[in-house]
Amino acid sequence: MTILLINGSPRKTGNTATLGDRLLTNLPYRTIHLADHQLNFVQDYRDTTHPQQDLTDDYETLMTQFAQATDIVLGTPVYWYGMTGQLKVFMDRWFDSFTNDFSFSGKRLYLLVVGADEPETKATGITQAVQESCDWLQMDFQGTATVTADGPSDVAKMAELPASVRRLRDILQQHQA
Ligand SMILES: Cc1cc2nc3c(=O)[nH]c(=O)nc-3n(C[C@H](O)[C@H](O)[C@H](O)COP(=O)(O)O)c2cc1C
Repeated sequence: MTILLINGSPRKTGNTATLGDRLLTNLPYRTIHLADHQLNFVQDYRDTTHPQQDLTDDYETLMTQFAQATDIVLGTPVYWYGMTGQLKVFMDRWFDSFTNDFSFSGKRLYLLVVGADEPETKATGITQAVQESCDWLQMDFQGTATVTADGPSDVAKMAELPASVRRLRDILQQHQA
């Protein structure tokens, strides 16, 4: 089944996108660049009569593609030791879907993190946020691959990727078999 790669970087051909491409080489996948889409901040309508949804942007269209995938790779550069705003806004909106009984359960999530300043130790909060969100939504978190890179072609220039990338690829391949 086609894997969905969601790139949370505004650089559509930068390190995160390239890492996703390298992770998924020769596997069936399609990419969504969040930067190509309009996404509004989530609203909290819980204590109002307004439905918990916003049909004025691209979110529901993106979730149609999300619904079709079982294996979903989220990729983000590190911004201020967290995920990018693009990915955070997208994940915040999962609350709309949750409220409207979207079927998150059973999806497998993989996380790619790329940062310049020791992301392995300084950006662990991204993994925690995604892992806890998966637990809450009953998705199966499959792990994180973290890569140190800064210039837009750094990942492209790497002869070899860290073991964590190969580990995620092995899991993806097992699920494709
Ligand atoms: C606004 C901004 C904030 C950043 N903050 C961090 C940071 O806190 N920690 C870090 O390791 N790298 C930080 N970086 C560097 C990026 O994570 C790094 O350049 C990454 O390789 C970019 O990935 P991309 O090419 O996919 O966009 C920041 C970059 C930008 C533009």
